[in-house]
Amino acid sequence: MTVRQLHLLGSPVLRQRSTPVATVDDAVQRLVDDLFETMHAAKGVGLAANQVGIARRVAVVDVGADGPPPLVLINPRIVQASDVVETAEEGCLSIPEIYGEVERHVGISVEALDRDGHPYKVELSGFKARAAQHEIDHLDGVLFLDHLSAVKRGLLLAKWKKSRKGQSGYVKDVTPEPAGEL
Ligand code: NI
Repeated sequence: MTVRQLHLLGSPVLRQRSTPVATVDDAVQRLVDDLFETMHAAKGVGLAANQVGIARRVAVVDVGADGPPPLVLINPRIVQASDVVETAEEGCLSIPEIYGEVERHVGISVEALDRDGHPYKVELSGFKARAAQHEIDHLDGVLFLDHLSAVKRGLLLAKWKKSRKGQSGYVKDVTPEPAGEL
């Protein structure tokens, strides 16, 4: 497994609509494993393939003790969503240090393929449902910022640009912290 480089806001691949996976082969399984590795190293709770520069419909979610087990989402589709919505703060590994209040469905049903290419359906609620909606958005080139008001988005983009001053490029190495640290 490899920790891959993260693509940050400004990298065109984040705005691409990703292509469905035709066959879950070795390369796709390796991608799934690398997504988990990279997400854990970056201390994230979800990661989509285009965040590591690959525009295919593959994402992972692991909210830890808040909602095991981890999810592998290959070609995921939200087939049902609750009318009830909830607003809570979200961030994104591709837009570090920027957070916004995003409205999401409290519950969703998702159909997807697992790491073995088998179709499954899962009901998600709460934080895990939020994380899955965020990742499925990524596969369509949508970022959490797009759900905010134009004013709020403008403020956060200004803050982002300021934080990026003097830095070039839109990929970043993930440096895993030594294990065992609290
Ligand atoms: Ni994200």
